[in-house]
Amino acid sequence: MTAASAVEIQASTLAGYADASRLRQVQDRDWALDQVTGEPGTLIDLGSGIGQLLQAALERFPTLRHAVGLERSEHRLAEAAVRLQPYGERVSLHPADLTAPEPLPLRADVITQTSVLHWLYPWEERIFAWAAAHLAPGGSFLLTTYHPARDAHGLGGEDELVRDALVALGTPYEEVPGLLARADVLPIATRTRTVEDLAEVIGRHLRVAGHLERDAVVTVDGAAQYEHFHAATFGDYYSRLVPAERRAAFFRAVGESAWRRQTERGHVSHMPVRLWTLTSR
Ligand SMILES: C[S@@+](CC[C@H](N)C(=O)[O-])C[C@H]1O[C@@H](n2cnc3c(N)ncnc32)[C@H](O)[C@@H]1O
Repeated sequence: MTAASAVEIQASTLAGYADASRLRQVQDRDWALDQVTGEPGTLIDLGSGIGQLLQAALERFPTLRHAVGLERSEHRLAEAAVRLQPYGERVSLHPADLTAPEPLPLRADVITQTSVLHWLYPWEERIFAWAAAHLAPGGSFLLTTYHPARDAHGLGGEDELVRDALVALGTPYEEVPGLLARADVLPIATRTRTVEDLAEVIGRHLRVAGHLERDAVVTVDGAAQYEHFHAATFGDYYSRLVPAERRAAFFRAVGESAWRRQTERGHVSHMPVRLWTLTSR
């Protein structure tokens, strides 16, 4: 058995997110918090990761008495606990699977969920029902969703870099969708759903009070930077498509694909991101 490389260890623990998230996800944090009105007392962040949004909210809103994070990854919860330790009893972090969310004995003025919803496919409706039951009167759920263009096989966004990497490692281009399907790796551009699909699911539980859009453009200054972004963001979701002894080469090839795109196009990727403001019906 070969020893796992540093990047494989990073992927298995989702480490390095504070650094990696500067490339894309961190912009959602301030964007969402900019929409908060009034003086929130309770905020719940769904898929709170390493606690960056909760920390920013605690700094911004002195009225915030309960900043609550729900998160599945034990590594991320541990990192968040260290980050948020200075805020003492204003913070609570709970291990949670958002595809089967448990009720909490509180109501929130603000619920946030940034860069998470695609991981809940096809069970997103459960978190909308949960949010409807946990919003305080007049509260809002601020949600960001990503919408990469997709091809006839449902591939797009990160799937394209993964396809480049698999081709570089020897898989014929046209066999990539079949390889993903056989390994039960659902393309991310399928997971993200369309705005219309989401609006329909959301509308069963919540009212869409408004939305904003931005184009999330990712640029890098080298292949290694993207290799680490991919490992910190997608973990081993895609790398399990290749045998263990080829995983280090897979991560390297994803980074090389990103850098090739950067030099050819001036960016690695861009995609519309929507910020939804949802309220009780
Ligand atoms: C791309 S990160 C976003 C983290 C943070 N919200 C941000 O904007 O930086 C996605 C997060 O969702 C978490 N996640 C994915 N599926 C989840 C699930 N079923 N239940 C709880 N958390 C989940 C991951 O562990 C990860 O921390």
